[in-house]
Amino acid sequence: MQDRFQREINYLRISITDRCNLRCVYCMPPEGVKLVEHEDILRLEEIETIVRAAAAVGIRKLRLTGGEPLIRKGIVRLVRKLSAVPGIDDLALTTNGILLARYLKSLEEAGLNRVNISLDTLRPERFKEITRGGNLTDVWQGIKAALASSLHPVKLNTVIIRGSNDDEILDFARLTMEFPLHVRFIELMPIGTCNAWAEEKRVPYYEIKEQIEKELGSLVAYEEVPGGGPAKYYRLPGALGTIGFITAMSNHFCNHCNRIRLTAQGQIRPCLHSEWEIDLKGPLRQGAREEELQALISQAIQGKPRRHSMDSEGWQDQRRSMFQIGG
Ligand code: GTP
Ligand code: 5AD
Ligand code: SF4
Repeated sequence: MQDRFQREINYLRISITDRCNLRCVYCMPPEGVKLVEHEDILRLEEIETIVRAAAAVGIRKLRLTGGEPLIRKGIVRLVRKLSAVPGIDDLALTTNGILLARYLKSLEEAGLNRVNISLDTLRPERFKEITRGGNLTDVWQGIKAALASSLHPVKLNTVIIRGSNDDEILDFARLTMEFPLHVRFIELMPIGTCNAWAEEKRVPYYEIKEQIEKELGSLVAYEEVPGGGPAKYYRLPGALGTIGFITAMSNHFCNHCNRIRLTAQGQIRPCLHSEWEIDLKGPLRQGAREEELQALISQAIQGKPRRHSMDSEGWQDQRRSMFQIGG
């Protein structure tokens, strides 16, 4: 379905939990956050019902996010159900990778098509600091398992933060020489605990690109990485993988946006940055029929704003952070 700005909206990102087994410094405060009550979170059957309605109004790609989606009980069952919904032709997952090696085979068998793995450092001690206690070996096992599986292409999401991991840009870029990995550098957005300092510590994509080109050779644009997201991809000479940039701040990609979001509490959020949401959980629990859900999803698509305004306004939403929206 097209929105008011002639954008084709065919991608639904579903946050299936607001919980996470890590506490990344830019995302969550050290003490964690007030979690949503269990009964306020969509049940798996409810997610499936919403996806059926969404597919009927033109959604073709799904991505499960969190918090951390792999800590939700029943995740494999959910993947099996969603991959069988008529009209859905791409089902992917964004994970921090900690539990990935454990679940990968079952997810693959259940019909998952792809995984994107978040990883901000290749150094074990630093990983512990950034994630407040995580074990890098777990993530590497997940990455290796994904590379050995049919879930290709495997993408890494790396948020570069000045003074924290900006000395690892070349190490991440070199990974693409060694493995068929698609390393995407993401510009830090003012969402979450980093709201106050994101601007100061953000490294714009052109700085990253310049550094890579200076040290490792020219980057050649590469169009053929499957996916539905906003990354722009390049390749180093002779590389097995690619280097992507998600330029959320310096060069927003809202003109080509193709997505809406479903929060763990059952609201459709038309833009990462819009505070306006349409509730589906209430109507669903009061017995709404699928056509009514379709109408609500269409209404959300028609209300999608032209672009985000994080650059001028910062993050205004007092209710939600990244782990509640799913990135
Ligand atoms: P592919 O289908 O593999 O291309 O995935 P994707 O890039 O859509 O999904 P992923 O969950 O890996 O997203 C990577 C990052 O892109 C997110 O964590 C966000 O930082 C950023 N991002 C995703 N969607 C949006 C969006 O709508 N607006 C903005 N500003 N950033 C987004
Ligand atoms: N800015 C950019 N990316 C972020 N993520 C979480 N918070 C932010 C932020 N403020 C990323 C994570 C992960 C993905 C799901 O979202 O690092 O890769
Ligand atoms: Fe968890 Fe992702 Fe937030 Fe890190 S960025 S704490 S992995 S939700």
